[in-house]
Amino acid sequence: MKTNLMPLMLIIASVLFAPGHSSAGQKEVTVDHLSQTNTLVRVDGGKHFLLMPIQDSADDAEINVIADGKIDKTIYARLAKSKVDYFVPFDLTPYNGKQVVLDVDFAQGRPVAKDSVVYVCWDKFSLSDNFDTSNKEKYRPLFHHTPEYGWMNDPNGMFYKDGVWHLYYQWNPYGSKWQNMTWGHSTSTDLVNWNHHGAAIEPNGFGAAFSGSSAVDKTGSAGFGKDAVVTMYTTAGKNQTQSLMWSTDNGETFKFYPGSPVITLESEARDPNMFWNEDTKTWTLVLAHALEKEMLIFSSPDMKKWTLTGSFGKGLGAQGGVWECPDLFPLPVEGTNETKWVLLCNINPGGPFGGSATQYFVGDFDGKTFTADTDLNGMIPTKWLDYGKDNYANVSWSDAPNGRRVIMGWMSNWQYANEIPTLQFRSANTLPRDLKLFRGKDGELYVASKPSPEVDSLRDRMTLNEKQLTVGKNTKQIALPEQNNGICEIFMKVQAKGAKTFTLIFSNDKGEQVKMTYSPLTDKLSFDRSQSGQTEFSDDFAAVTAAPVHSAGSTFGLRIFIDTSSMEVFEESGKAVMTNLVFPTTPFSTMTLKAEGGNVKVSDLKVYSLKSTI
Ligand code: FRU
Repeated sequence: MKTNLMPLMLIIASVLFAPGHSSAGQKEVTVDHLSQTNTLVRVDGGKHFLLMPIQDSADDAEINVIADGKIDKTIYARLAKSKVDYFVPFDLTPYNGKQVVLDVDFAQGRPVAKDSVVYVCWDKFSLSDNFDTSNKEKYRPLFHHTPEYGWMNDPNGMFYKDGVWHLYYQWNPYGSKWQNMTWGHSTSTDLVNWNHHGAAIEPNGFGAAFSGSSAVDKTGSAGFGKDAVVTMYTTAGKNQTQSLMWSTDNGETFKFYPGSPVITLESEARDPNMFWNEDTKTWTLVLAHALEKEMLIFSSPDMKKWTLTGSFGKGLGAQGGVWECPDLFPLPVEGTNETKWVLLCNINPGGPFGGSATQYFVGDFDGKTFTADTDLNGMIPTKWLDYGKDNYANVSWSDAPNGRRVIMGWMSNWQYANEIPTLQFRSANTLPRDLKLFRGKDGELYVASKPSPEVDSLRDRMTLNEKQLTVGKNTKQIALPEQNNGICEIFMKVQAKGAKTFTLIFSNDKGEQVKMTYSPLTDKLSFDRSQSGQTEFSDDFAAVTAAPVHSAGSTFGLRIFIDTSSMEVFEESGKAVMTNLVFPTTPFSTMTLKAEGGNVKVSDLKVYSLKSTI
């Protein structure tokens, strides 16, 4: 079986041109082809990383990592077939200098990759004590959280403790497409500058580490000690089950609770979100019953034994796709003493502009079940947190200080997330946002998401400050800052009542543009990215999105954040939000203000260049 499936010539070549010789001539990485699709890569220890050559468009190889004859873990990586796009580091330090063998299988029962012995990857493996994570890509955001390398989706498991904001995220450390779900960990003391801590939770025998939540167990109710950080997440193996981990070093490392999984269901259920319920003095947990398109609610005294107390959502709201990533929390109603409960139900697909989006319900929670408020017609309305295409999997930090409710989303859309034109990393988070409830003109309660105050610290220089201008027959052109790839913040007050439309065009000298149009009649702001630069990587990308502004046609403030590949547009107090990715081939350099059918008064127009945080 060993070598008789491959031509003798190739075997000789693989031995002669074995990669990774050390200066002493001693082999560090040797490649041993066992068959057309199965190869052993032997790695001598002693260095920090094995650098693995990846080609984004290649098929995943299944790699059993063998140490001391035992499979330590199984990972999947798109080892380069015809060219190397980038490298990913495999950490060798846990093996204490011992030899590690990667048993690489390209077949995995598929009728593909009959000839993996000729792939370019084999002589590109190398050992190194360093891995360069510096930014090499023009679309790498400069002031949004991104993984240092590799794929990222949902933010999850976030908690605040001792002045530190802990952010975990769905991470593939071995490539820039979805795979090997691991919890990456980053921390910040100001929500804008992030430190990267690498993997906190890795796949284990129960499955990959899908999304979940964390809570600080202040009383030690779970038996892991006072102030232990307890995390409940989905172990996604043959079934999706909910498992418990705990940390006594502030979320740096976690231990697996041996009684896990603690919740099992026959049907797909994931993304458990738990919190301490002060009213009932119990833990409450909301779990997405994904295919049933409902949220299940559980209660527990100790986070280990859970009792199902209710469910919400069957047949309600948007039902166009699976329900995922719930979050349930109380939120004050602006200008009143009232507090209502908000249930976030992320949904994919079925968003207002296609693909994934975050819907929410406002109502009451009695400790057992959530009941949504009805509108004037007795119906439960569907509400959206963000009217752009690129803000998914929103969940909030537990224990945020001063009663704040701070959320972050994943700034992408499952329609094209794996295809966006980046390589070393893929995807960023939205800016952090503080939530509150406000009552709209229609009498309904809506969630406002406003950039968290910490975001103001990104401002560098004010490059424009215009007190007052009238936009009518004459258009107004404004140069955007050039430094840091044109990343900037723009603010203006808009009084558009006398006009039919007010338009902002962001453009570069390549003729690429984003066009935002506000119509006082409909009180809606649209965002057209069909000509915004690179759009061809997905038919679903070149879209127009539109948000209700809730200004009733009177003056409103507009706040726009432009990073290298995203634009976030806010009505000043967060009543309207649109988050959209854009990939201009050079940064937008000009903002043009236009009005049709009358004059628009623009005041307090300010442009700030922004600091890079990476
Ligand atoms: C949402 C989601 C979650 C799941 C995770 C897997 O984007 O599908 O439901 O836990 O991604 O990465």
